[in-house]
Amino acid sequence: MNRKTVALLATILILSIAIVIGVSAGLNRQDQETTQQDAPQPTKTFTAEEVASHNSKNDCWTIISGQVYDLTEYINRHPGSDEILRACGAEATTLFDARQTTDGKPVGSGAPHSQAAREQLDRLKIGTLITN
Ligand code: HEM
Repeated sequence: MNRKTVALLATILILSIAIVIGVSAGLNRQDQETTQQDAPQPTKTFTAEEVASHNSKNDCWTIISGQVYDLTEYINRHPGSDEILRACGAEATTLFDARQTTDGKPVGSGAPHSQAAREQLDRLKIGTLITN
């Protein structure tokens, strides 16, 4: 083997090693990105005071069974008219679950919301209530 051939083989060897290292580093990064994407997002937490400050038709948050929901964009689509506004800034578990006020007075039919209503509610969740 002459010197030229040795130099050529050495170059090819170095390039191959560089390519293997580069590809495996790239794959590793992809793995990490996938892991980060799959990791559950930390749930946001809010205090009752924070929820209470979102108490109008244009900015309406509520608490139902310890979860916090932003109802603002749903209000105009609510089939039960403005009765939903009772929930803004408030604890509304009984209002939603039983369609009754906390002292037992019926709102509308006074019957619980349907499964479809629950599913719509799930999509409006923004976090969980913390008590301090
Ligand atoms: C928490 C305060 C709320 C009150 C007081 C309230 C009240 C009402 C009332 C009076 C009706 C008319 C039907 C009836 O009288 O039975 C109604 C219907 C309905 N509401 Fe609400 N609502 C509230 C919140 C919500 C929320 C947060 C959702 C969903 C995100 C929702 C979804 C619906 C749906 C889908 C209907 C049609 C009937 C059914 O599927 O149960 N409501 N609501």
